Amino acid sequence: MNSKFWQQKRVLITGGCGFVGRWVARALHPAEVDLHILDLAPSNHLDEKHTFHRTNLCDLTATRELIGSLRPAAIIHLAGQPGVASSHDNPVGAYEANVLATFNLLEACRQQGGVEAIVAVSSNHVYGEQHHQPTPEDAPLNGDGMYAVSKLAGDVLARAYGKTYGLPVGIARMTNSFGGDDHHLAHIITATILSTLKNQRPVIKQSGRDRKGYLYIKDTAQGLLAVAEGVAGSRDLHGDAFNLVPNEVLPVTDLVRAILAAVGSKLEPEILNPTAAFEVEHLDNSKARELLGWTPQFDLPAGLAETIAWYRSHGHG
Ligand SMILES: NC(=O)c1ccc[n+]([C@@H]2O[C@H](COP(=O)([O-])OP(=O)(O)OC[C@H]3O[C@@H](n4cnc5c(N)ncnc54)[C@H](O)[C@@H]3O)[C@@H](O)[C@H]2O)c1
Repeated sequence: MNSKFWQQKRVLITGGCGFVGRWVARALHPAEVDLHILDLAPSNHLDEKHTFHRTNLCDLTATRELIGSLRPAAIIHLAGQPGVASSHDNPVGAYEANVLATFNLLEACRQQGGVEAIVAVSSNHVYGEQHHQPTPEDAPLNGDGMYAVSKLAGDVLARAYGKTYGLPVGIARMTNSFGGDDHHLAHIITATILSTLKNQRPVIKQSGRDRKGYLYIKDTAQGLLAVAEGVAGSRDLHGDAFNLVPNEVLPVTDLVRAILAAVGSKLEPEILNPTAAFEVEHLDNSKARELLGWTPQFDLPAGLAETIAWYRSHGHG
C-alpha cells in the first residue's frame, strides 16, 4: 500500500461487514483514513474505527444520496452475493447483489462525480473453461454458472463505465481468498482448518484433483488497494481488469494435506467422489505485477500459518 495515497482519505467500503471488507478495513488502518462502511446491516465483527451506513445498493436513490452527501475519494465495492451454490439457488439475489447493486453504485458515481478511484470486485469464475493457461485478463469470459454470469455482468458494466464515461474504476478479478475471520465455513481452507482443529477428518467433496490458486486475505486486501491506486494514477487503466491471484496453483488434495501438516495432524482426508471430473484454473497475475506493482507477499505455508494461528486463538466453533 502506498500510504501517502491513502493518508486521511475518505474511503467507502461497500459490503464492508463481509469477510473481505473487514480485512480491507484492517489493511487501511495504518493510513488513518476516514473510513465509511456501507452494508445491509451493521456487524459486531468490525474492529476498525468507522462510520456505518445502512444502505441497500439496490436502491438507486438511496445510493445516489449517500454518494452525493459523503463524496468519498475512493470506493472499494465488495457488496455482493459471493456463493456459487447460493447464486444457483437464488438467481434473483445474485442479480440484485452482483449486477443491480454494482450498476447503481457506478451510475451514482457517474452522476455525482468527484470519486478518484473505484474498485469493482469481480471473480475468477468469470473465466469459465479456458484453453490458454495461465489465463490473462483479455481471455474470453466463458463463465456460465449463475454466480459467474452475475459477476461477469458487474465486471463488464464496470468496464463500460470506465471506458465509456472515463469513470476511474478498476476491476479486481479475485480468486478464492482465505484467512481468519472467515464466516464462509464451506470455503475449503476454512472448513479444513476448523475440522482438523476439532480432530475431525477433513472432507474433500470432489476428487481432490481440481487445481486452483488460493490467495491469503492480506494479499487480497493489498491487491484491492493497489487497483485503486492504479486507476487513480492512470487514465489508461480506467475500466481495466486485473487478476488478483497467487503465483502458484495446486490440487485440492495437496492443499488439504498442507493444512493437516501445518496443524500437525495425522488425520487422512475423506474424498467423497474420487472419480469426479476435475478442472484446472490457472490465472496469470503478471498484469497486476507489472502495472500495479502488486505481488503476493505470502506464500501458501505463510498464509496458512497465520490463518491457523487465527483460528487457534479466536476459537473454532
Ligand atoms: N471471498 C472470496 O474468496 C471471493 C473471491 C472472489 C470474489 N469475491 C467477491 O468479493 C466480494 C466480497 O466477498 P465476501 O467473501 O467478503 O462476501 P460476504 O458475503 O462476506 O460480504 C458481502 C457483503 O455484501 C453485503 N451486501 C450484499 N448485498 C448488498 C446490497 N444490496 N447493498 C449493500 N450491501 C450488500 C452483505 O450484507 C455482506 O456483508 C463479493 O462481491 C464476492 O463476489 C470474493
